[in-house]
Amino acid sequence: MRTPFVVGNWKLHKTIAESLALVTELKNQLGAVKGVAVGVAPVFTALHAVAKRLEGSPIATCAQDCHWEASGAWTGEVSAGHIADAGGTWAIVGHSERRQFFGDTSEGVGKKARAALAAGLGAIVCVGESLAERDGGRTLAVVDEQLAGGLSGIAAASAPRLVIAYEPVWAIGTGRTATPAQAQEVHAHIRARLAEHLGADAAGAIRIQYGGSVKPSNAEALLGEPDIDGALVGGASLEASDFVAIVKAARPG
Ligand code: PGA
Repeated sequence: MRTPFVVGNWKLHKTIAESLALVTELKNQLGAVKGVAVGVAPVFTALHAVAKRLEGSPIATCAQDCHWEASGAWTGEVSAGHIADAGGTWAIVGHSERRQFFGDTSEGVGKKARAALAAGLGAIVCVGESLAERDGGRTLAVVDEQLAGGLSGIAAASAPRLVIAYEPVWAIGTGRTATPAQAQEVHAHIRARLAEHLGADAAGAIRIQYGGSVKPSNAEALLGEPDIDGALVGGASLEASDFVAIVKAARPG
């Protein structure tokens, strides 16, 4: 059985004080929720303060990216080791906004995922097609290419700390969500590819999150699909009440 994992990706939102206010509310409201793993991904400058505030809570502190090298002359970058030092336990890598606006390639995403795992973090590897790619019938081919790069050099033993997030680019921040059936089709495909890359046991253990306009009103239907094991939530993670409702929708059974 896979424990669903719901992560709030705060993107470029919230000061340190605002981040602390939100995690304090989440801690209070999610204290009793069982059977779901939860994480938040603040901006780097708030990461340490958020991790400190979450000490003793099961809510994980995640980074929105990491660099592939541990240290060196890489002005402006943050390494996985520095994220761990600040109290982070997961890194999101390959988010479509990184691929689209910052030039992240599938090969680079694989390097980042390997660096995160080597530093003891979990890695959330994002994949997903654009609208033109979907309309051109290339969804599964695009996801395959992104998975091949993102998983390269990763061993099956990393399965518990490896998460794939399927985020169709046309559904991110647009209010347009994939239907549960559309998402399930791609999730099942991803799980089959995971089995080819890492073996059936690892594929059965790896959580595959859906992301793209997840809201309290659609979370239950999406998370009810057999291969959807949680959510990567952008806009709706910025308000405690919406995020808590999504987490509650992810409870098994
Ligand atoms: P959204 O973002 O929920 O605002 O669509 C999801 C994401 O980019 O991770």
